[in-house]
Amino acid sequence: MEPKISKKGPCVMEMQPGKYFWSSCGHSAIQPFCDGVHNKL
Ligand code: FES
Repeated sequence: MEPKISKKGPCVMEMQPGKYFWSSCGHSAIQPFCDGVHNKL
């Protein structure tokens, strides 16, 4: 799988405490978070 750049620039978000999964592949539809699509590529 080729990694994809989903956005060039910062992603500023106000977050609640908790566990988040960042999409390191760049293919997720819910950027910047992982939606599990990396398992299908
Ligand atoms: S790491 Fe990109 S969708 Fe999971």
